[in-house]
Amino acid sequence: MKKLICVAMLALGLSACSGQAPLSDAKPVNVKSLAGDAQVSDVRPADAMPEYPARGKSLQRNFAEQPPLVPHKDYDISISKNSCINCHSPEKAKRMRTTAVPASHLETDGKTLKGQNYFCTQCHVPQASNKQAIVDNTF
Ligand code: HEC
Ligand code: HEC
Repeated sequence: MKKLICVAMLALGLSACSGQAPLSDAKPVNVKSLAGDAQVSDVRPADAMPEYPARGKSLQRNFAEQPPLVPHKDYDISISKNSCINCHSPEKAKRMRTTAVPASHLETDGKTLKGQNYFCTQCHVPQASNKQAIVDNTF
């Protein structure tokens, strides 16, 4: 008998949870997509390809201690391989005509990257001249 009451109460509880009535006084949420008002089914023209400064030109820094902006396309960084270091390591920088990573990025042996500086694009972002900032800023 106890078991039967238990099952009956469980069934009653479950039926109370289902069949929720929709909120009638809910206000419409106006969310604007970064892609504009295009419908999902619309085909929108592709964004322009990013244009980077001519090879060998770095960009002016806006404040002291700023991680300099990357004046070229992005390269892969994975747990096993860091492409950036192929051109920016102190040993290769001269040959590749790049600025070597500063001493602050390296362990005391002057060669090994510090773990905190491994993921370069965490601090250094590529800057294309023909891209509008998604969010306005005063820099
Ligand atoms: C194929 C070689 C190559 C690779 C790979 C490469 N760079 Fe560069 N990088 C350059 C050259 C050339 C310049 C322009 C000369 C300079 O300022 O060092 C440059 C400039 C920079 C600068 C500007 C330096 C300054 O003082 O203004 C930063 C920052 C930078 N690269 C970061 C990166 C990052 C981060 C990666 C990996 C995602 C990377 N680079 C991969 C060749 C390379
Ligand atoms: C934690 C943030 C951070 C990470 C990660 C980082 N950097 Fe930097 N980087 C900076 C800052 C800040 C500066 C400017 C101050 C300085 O020179 O130490 C800088 C400066 C530089 C410079 C200019 C050096 C000079 O003498 O003008 C180069 C080139 C550079 N970084 C390359 C890299 C590369 C390549 C990686 C990845 C292997 C990397 N950085 C990872 C913050 C970072």
